[in-house]
Amino acid sequence: MSERPNWTSKYAFIVTTIGSAVGLGNIWRFPYIMGQNGGAIFLAVYIILISTICFIPLINELYIGKLTKRECIGAYESINRNFKFLGVLNPITGILIAAFYFIVGGWIINYILKSILNFNINDYGEYFSNFIQQPVYPCILTILFLFICIFVTAKGVKNGIEATNKILMPLLAAILIFLVIISINLPNANIGLEYMFKPDFSKLNSHMVLAALGQAFFTLSIGMGALLTYGSYIKEDKSLVKSVYTIILSDTAFAILAGIMIFPAVFSFNMEPNSGAGLVFVTLPKIFSQIPYGNIVSLAFFILLLCAAITSGISIVEGPCASMVERFKISRAKACTILFIVISVLAIPATLSFGYLSDFKILGKTIFEFLDFLTSNLMLPLNTLFLCIISGWYLKIKGINIIKNKFFALLFDAGLRFVVPIALICLMLIGLN
Ligand code: PHE
Repeated sequence: MSERPNWTSKYAFIVTTIGSAVGLGNIWRFPYIMGQNGGAIFLAVYIILISTICFIPLINELYIGKLTKRECIGAYESINRNFKFLGVLNPITGILIAAFYFIVGGWIINYILKSILNFNINDYGEYFSNFIQQPVYPCILTILFLFICIFVTAKGVKNGIEATNKILMPLLAAILIFLVIISINLPNANIGLEYMFKPDFSKLNSHMVLAALGQAFFTLSIGMGALLTYGSYIKEDKSLVKSVYTIILSDTAFAILAGIMIFPAVFSFNMEPNSGAGLVFVTLPKIFSQIPYGNIVSLAFFILLLCAAITSGISIVEGPCASMVERFKISRAKACTILFIVISVLAIPATLSFGYLSDFKILGKTIFEFLDFLTSNLMLPLNTLFLCIISGWYLKIKGINIIKNKFFALLFDAGLRFVVPIALICLMLIGLN
């Protein structure tokens, strides 16, 4: 078998990991969850959690990858043979996430095509629900999006994953800044900015805190082995702490900028910020249709969303791909072909769950909702919990080996052993209700 790949530089590692983190979670999910949870106060809680509690499992996952230099299953196995099945849960989680995440990737491709072909519709809500209910077209788009991510992954760590992130991430930042400038220059943009930055403390509650925590874990891609795999490609990084803070800071900046891009526009056109998942696919297209050069703005926005989804999509595929390559000793191309088939088989019924299969329910949820629920509320926190317990209680990893500052190292030790596991258990208990 060929040698294990490595990142060509520290920049490559950081930009690719930021690429994994910055995704639909930042631009699609973050604004609508913030919209449903009271705006600025949610943002404040989110920033506190992401820069403290989330730092620990993020660095832990990368560190275990860097330490073991193995893909997920091998990494767990090398710690203790009996942990192997816990490792297997990671690529499985990745495949299940792919099955619903990539559907949204397909929707984005449709909106790009619509923006090119002049997007003038009377009722955007009706358009969106009719579109996702169709039996064939959304399936084709989902598979197209899956194909793009699989193709990049199959080209390898250096020529595929690294090269794509190095192009798409700067493009993503440039488009985002362009759209932010347009948005804050709309009439009454200040109302949206106030909504984002002037906290209303009456909206503070435990449910919202947990929503912020769940969002922070999801957006950092913690808990499915993507980071562990990316960490295993690090040749040397003497200041992993600095890299991790760069990743967290950038991810948060992208989320905040996405909010600054969306909320002033929403308030400027007297629309509701709490329309949930439809915020990006219904409310925004309605706004685009009312502004000058709306088609170009719409095209730019959905290209931005596509870049973000691809760089995260690649990381979702890379975990299971690396596991298959290293365990079954097969080529990347073969592993990617198998993954393409497996994810398609799962994603097609999930795509159909908006139309044909909408009456097929698991625990009262459609297939799409169930996959989202199972992975985001259960499997991601559970995998993270296992890894924290393994590091903190079994390997007895000491913060001082990772963080040079003694005080912060002690905080890290307490966080890894107690605070993060407790927070994760609360997250799962609330998520299961
Ligand atoms: N972090 C990605 C996002 O924000 C989603 C993701 C979750 C990617 C888990 C990989 C693993 O969209």
